[in-house]
Amino acid sequence: MRDNIFARPIKVEDFSFNQQVATVFSDMIKRSVPGYIDLIQNIGIIASNFVDETSIIYDLGCSLGEVSNFISLYVPKSCRILAVDNSCSMLEECKKHLTSSNIELIYADITNMQFEPSRFAVLNLTLQFIAPDKRLDLLSKIYQSLLPNSALIISEKFKFTDEFEQNFMDKLHINFKRAQGYSELEIAQKRSAIENVLISDTEQTHVKRLHQAGFSKVITWFRCLNFASIIALK
Ligand SMILES: C[S@@+](CC[C@H](N)C(=O)[O-])C[C@H]1O[C@@H](n2cnc3c(N)ncnc32)[C@H](O)[C@@H]1O
Repeated sequence: MRDNIFARPIKVEDFSFNQQVATVFSDMIKRSVPGYIDLIQNIGIIASNFVDETSIIYDLGCSLGEVSNFISLYVPKSCRILAVDNSCSMLEECKKHLTSSNIELIYADITNMQFEPSRFAVLNLTLQFIAPDKRLDLLSKIYQSLLPNSALIISEKFKFTDEFEQNFMDKLHINFKRAQGYSELEIAQKRSAIENVLISDTEQTHVKRLHQAGFSKVITWFRCLNFASIIALK
């Protein structure tokens, strides 16, 4: 379904992953995140480098399971892909989108769940929705649960310390949304709905925090406008 949640003037409230959003999320994310399909397809391909026949893989903040679906294309069918979200609406909608029987849906808050030993974990556009003071704890917990020679992928909207770069990237992102058919009203209303909910970090903050969590190598492997993805190796 086409995302037209912000198409008419509304009393803007904080963005949440409710039923209204879940219904249109597939369209919303593709028209809001530049490079989204390339990003998630490559996450699937990267996953295949780290797993064996019996591996557990985490898709944390799975939404409609698009990352899990791509991963399932590139890893052995005997792997368990654990797709976790704390939005019932998202998980209900996710059931309709899953394309592989080795994906298990888990309703949980990733900041207080227990992780099983895994070989690959993904936070695709999820960490930015976690309270900043809980991010290091979460990454440390994921690090502890990963087996040796495994990896975590984090994709995020980046913030920039340089004012010119921030404004320039904002402008390019708005142009991208216009090109996807979003109106000025939709762009403005979505922006105010999300500004207190999506708290982005700079690349430097991500890299520093991942090292603090214990990861030995931290590499930015994908970038499209103000969105990027980092792989952290254990
Ligand atoms: C932007 S979406 C992620 C998109 C998805 N990974 C993809 O690639 O299509 C963020 C998701 O994280 C979930 N989320 C936010 N906080 C969470 C938490 N504490 N525990 C579990 N899921 C969470 C939201 O419900 C939402 O579905």
